[in-house]
Amino acid sequence: MLNKISEILNEISAYSTQKHDELESFRLKYLSKKGIISELFEDFRNIPPLEKREIGQKLNILKEKALEKYNSLKSDLPETAPISDSSDLSKPSFPFPTGSRHPISIVRKEIIEIFNRIGFVVSEGPEIEDDNHVFTKLNFAPEHPARDMQDTFYVSRISAEDSSPEDILLRTHTSSVQVRVMEGQKPPIRTISPGRVFRNEAISARAHCIFHQVEGLYIDTNVSFADLKQTLLYFAREMFGKDTEIRLRPSYFPFTEPSAEMDVSCRICGGKGCNVCKYTGWLEILGCGMVHPNVLEACNIDSKEYTGFAFGMGIERLTMLKYRVNDLRLYFENDLRFLEQFRTSF
Ligand code: PHE
Repeated sequence: MLNKISEILNEISAYSTQKHDELESFRLKYLSKKGIISELFEDFRNIPPLEKREIGQKLNILKEKALEKYNSLKSDLPETAPISDSSDLSKPSFPFPTGSRHPISIVRKEIIEIFNRIGFVVSEGPEIEDDNHVFTKLNFAPEHPARDMQDTFYVSRISAEDSSPEDILLRTHTSSVQVRVMEGQKPPIRTISPGRVFRNEAISARAHCIFHQVEGLYIDTNVSFADLKQTLLYFAREMFGKDTEIRLRPSYFPFTEPSAEMDVSCRICGGKGCNVCKYTGWLEILGCGMVHPNVLEACNIDSKEYTGFAFGMGIERLTMLKYRVNDLRLYFENDLRFLEQFRTSF
């Protein structure tokens, strides 16, 4: 027994480690309830009484030395968090990364704030709509190609051949919200409707079947095309910088007459021509026009007393121009490497 004790004593005094797991093995081997030293105390019971005194003293010294060793090695260990069952090793460590806003949300908020400043209020409406609000009341002729299955996702149709105002579909533009506003409110009306829209298009870098719009509507007495132009010039300069120029090109929409498309001077080359503006110096950003009298009448607004203008833009497109994103699909893929690039203070 004495030999064994001195052997273990040597082992312990020679022992050294700087690793948490090795020190834990040391504790288990010598100091735990089932460890070597406990075992020796067990055996001590069978020692003849005459030897008990000496062996007892040596055993106590051994236990003390082992504890001392353990404590001194432990205090010298490098700092690391203790590993316990309650630790989640997959948890991100401090400082915890915060999320960032989606670029579409950032630009949507910016557009809304610009129009808020000149008195436009936000209105929202359903994404699942009827033909009446998306097409019929907006002066789309029954055979208009935009109602076609190729563009519109139908939820249910009354007849397979002809479209009917009761058909249920996913809205293809947020002009439908403006119809609802006109139905429920008397002029003056000054509203913008941001929201998600759906068109049955093949997904590519330049097209997607889901995208976001902000459409605007202003109806009052004596609203003129000059008011439309000035409002859009204000918007373009707030959005893209005070040197921005706009131009309006004649266009066609069933719900506006006259209609136009608006270009802004290319902010990348300053109008000199580059591959983003296809060397024209201009970028198309929205459609607009004076609200067609048929639309006003369909919504019970007297077209002799009131006139109005409307406009509509795609948020994805504006975001592409603002941040020079070259593939629409990036907005929908939730790739953190893309999303993390859009840090904002709000
Ligand atoms: N609703 C049109 C679209 O989705 C945009 C637009 C709105 C055009 C208002 C003119 C006036 O493309």
